[in-house]
Amino acid sequence: MNIESSRTTYDAGELLESSLTEDPVEALRTWLEAAYEHREIDEPNAMCLATAGAEGAPSARMVLLRGLDARGLVFFTSYLSRKGRELSENPRAAVVFHWRAMHRQVRVEGTVTQLPEDESDAYFASRPRGHQLSAWASEQGEPIDERAVLDERLEHFGARFEDEEVPRPHSWGGYVIAPQRVEFWQGRPNRMHDRIEYRRNERGWTRRRLQP
Ligand SMILES: Cc1cc2nc3c(=O)[nH]c(=O)nc-3n(C[C@H](O)[C@H](O)[C@H](O)COP(=O)(O)O)c2cc1C
Repeated sequence: MNIESSRTTYDAGELLESSLTEDPVEALRTWLEAAYEHREIDEPNAMCLATAGAEGAPSARMVLLRGLDARGLVFFTSYLSRKGRELSENPRAAVVFHWRAMHRQVRVEGTVTQLPEDESDAYFASRPRGHQLSAWASEQGEPIDERAVLDERLEHFGARFEDEEVPRPHSWGGYVIAPQRVEFWQGRPNRMHDRIEYRRNERGWTRRRLQP
């Protein structure tokens, strides 16, 4: 390990204004599609999500992007988790995608709302049964004495919902991040990276190039 001196040359391409659509959500979709096509990129929809509660102390963790439309970016989690509590106190978030093999990063900042219940129901119904049961068995972020207790809880809910569809727990569902700022970053040699920032105003989106 050589933290001080390991260096990567970022030279996978350049970022031209003309290559990005006027709508940053569409531009993000195009970059995601490219990441899905890249054979070295595993889970291109993984993103680091930062939230902060009423006191303003940030916390960050990875989540998976599960939807992208005109409203914004959708992810699913427990509403009672730390992120869920922080979002109820302060409904704003920032996310970062990093597609290392493409030397690309996208940052999104915006306001957060809960996804309508019918959409959370529909997504929950599409999950594998084991994932559905784990949403019942686990109180995300709460301490537990030992792993075996969790396994027992999973078994308990497996028996409770035997021969029926597992309903969505009310404490679990989606959030939508409505973007206010989106930045596309393409690494370039000598740390002279390309950065294009979009900001939303009353009329739509404005765009400008930032120094690296
Ligand atoms: C690649 C990756 C994807 C993840 N996706 C999710 C997700 O979509 N939803 C989720 O609740 N947790 C997901 N997790 C777990 C979270 O990072 C985190 O441990 C959990 O949500 C608890 O966070 P919190 O206590 O800050 O609320 C993922 C973790 C990794 C490493």
